[in-house]
Amino acid sequence: MQVTIAENYQALSKQAAEIVAAQIINKPTSVLGLATGVTPLGMYEELVSLHKAGLVSFKEVTTFNLDEFVGISPLHPGSYHQYMRHRLFDHVDINIPQAHLPNGAAPNLKQECREYEAKIRKAGGIDLQVLGIGRNGHIGFNEPHGKFEAFTNVVTLDSASREANARFFSTPHEVPRQAITMGIRTIMQARTILLLASGFEKAQVLAKALEGPVTPAVPASVLQLHSNVVVLADEAAAQIISKINTGQAAIDFG
Ligand code: GLP
Repeated sequence: MQVTIAENYQALSKQAAEIVAAQIINKPTSVLGLATGVTPLGMYEELVSLHKAGLVSFKEVTTFNLDEFVGISPLHPGSYHQYMRHRLFDHVDINIPQAHLPNGAAPNLKQECREYEAKIRKAGGIDLQVLGIGRNGHIGFNEPHGKFEAFTNVVTLDSASREANARFFSTPHEVPRQAITMGIRTIMQARTILLLASGFEKAQVLAKALEGPVTPAVPASVLQLHSNVVVLADEAAAQIISKINTGQAAIDFG
């Protein structure tokens, strides 16, 4: 695991975009796994700038997003489909049929999950998976205490995740209770993983994920078992891990 600490959110976003751009430049037909949430917003902005500057083309890139809410249409303004359109897809030269998100409005959700997994496999697997981390340690929408061996599946969101996503909906009541998410196993099969963490509210969970025991109680801790993970954290998110690494703190993860 390679941990890089960026000075601030802007530096983190720039470095993250450069890693993604380098992946695409090295392999124009790359398969990218993409994340939503607040954390990667700056990275998407930087990627759009790199594209507009003529430095990177998404023409041959295939993308698979980590997750989507169940029970809302891809056209709903709170959907991750719309997030991706507005933040990236509408501003770059990606071939839209190659930009995939699970369909949370599918009539048969189990079949949708199976087909999503099959599409990832057919595309040759994910070269670079971008991840954020939830305050409860989730990656994608793999909530605490799920199974590490899960492929893409339907999950029930816990209250922390529903609260964190309330900003995408007009009332907290409207926040969906379920989502389709790539499973931990789907994520672990990516060749390279880029985990982004920003802000002090992620410091504790990031320390648990990187330095604590590998446990389904902290889903992101499974990344310790992956052989090719790059962690990019800003100074605020890295506060606790820096202290552990320099011997200034010992954390009781019990
Ligand atoms: C969201 C998404 C995750 C994301 C995480 C952190 O709800 N399902 O893919 O990484 O929670 O979000 P944020 O970056 O907004 O803190």
